[in-house]
Amino acid sequence: MSGQRVCISDFEDEAKRVLPKAIYDYYRSGADQQQSLADNTAAFNRWRFFPRVLRDVSTIDLSCSVLGQPISMPVGVAATAMQRMAHPDGETATARACRAAGTGMMLSSWATSTIEEVMSAMTSSPGDSGVMWLQLYIYKDRDLTLSLVRRAEEAGYKGIFVTVDTPYLGRRWDDVRNRFKLPSHLSMSNFTSATLAFSEGSYGNDSGLAVYVAKAIDPTLSWTDITWLKKHTHLPVVVKGILTAEDAIQAVDHGVNGILVSNHGARQLDGVPATLDVLEDVVSAVQGRCEVYLDGGVRRGTDVLKALALGAKAVFIGRPVLWGLACQGDQGVSEVLELLRSELRLAMALAGCRSISEISRSIVRRVEFTSRI
Ligand code: GLV
Repeated sequence: MSGQRVCISDFEDEAKRVLPKAIYDYYRSGADQQQSLADNTAAFNRWRFFPRVLRDVSTIDLSCSVLGQPISMPVGVAATAMQRMAHPDGETATARACRAAGTGMMLSSWATSTIEEVMSAMTSSPGDSGVMWLQLYIYKDRDLTLSLVRRAEEAGYKGIFVTVDTPYLGRRWDDVRNRFKLPSHLSMSNFTSATLAFSEGSYGNDSGLAVYVAKAIDPTLSWTDITWLKKHTHLPVVVKGILTAEDAIQAVDHGVNGILVSNHGARQLDGVPATLDVLEDVVSAVQGRCEVYLDGGVRRGTDVLKALALGAKAVFIGRPVLWGLACQGDQGVSEVLELLRSELRLAMALAGCRSISEISRSIVRRVEFTSRI
């Protein structure tokens, strides 16, 4: 039996106890020495709040929107691959929890449930409803890539988050040690061929997923492919994996609808900055020409508030959802989402912000400046 889960790390501790080691390792790992992994969470501790008081915070409104779609709070679910390794219901459980929370879910191209079945889990029963987006890997096979986009359009997804930081998979030491591959009863359900479904193949002594990516994902990806994708879909396109002002400007010049400041959960290039540390650079470079979101290291409501104060329109959470899923399926994911919602509501009230639009840059300062005050 589990004890009371009061913070996200309680979910992780429990998930670690229930998951097979290779699966927990795959979800948890960052690349190489995991410096960026540690920094993603540590970065939030480098900021302090400067709250305003006496503002009647008896009502707090968390509602906001992503790509024009209303959601109940500025916390959505990031794409994480192969969720049926965490719980038999996998992505469909996550969708049910997002629907109940009235928030959005980004489905991984590497989901162990299909685009269509996750959408029907998101929409099929009464209650609050959320929003689905598709995270897209661009495959060497462009027809196959576009078929994923078409399926998302037909199923009613509201946007494409195209991953731009993975021409090759980052090297995650535990996955190499564990020779990580999918358990034999699972597959990446959106693909029909066993090789592309990651259910068959020879991976030698390496991480199976790294071998898969080297075979299937297109390392020639360039800005012209963003133009290509925009041309082939009517859905809004968000580039996922931008860390510099220069690339942010390129992205808006290529007509993207949004930028997700992300270092892929620190799973790609180790040594990149924490996403929170580059958020303001990206926001200033973009000058309001598209929406900017953040993922990486968000574990508390106060983290969400800091990211919003620094200009993010919304944040996405990845690993906390997997821990919730492993603990208790859709109920566990719901608990994670509701925990973050209540933490954010409390943080906003204590900072004197009654709505998302009242969250301003002036409520946070970096730690090194606070000593002069
Ligand atoms: C999938 O996107 C991964 O980082 O393993």
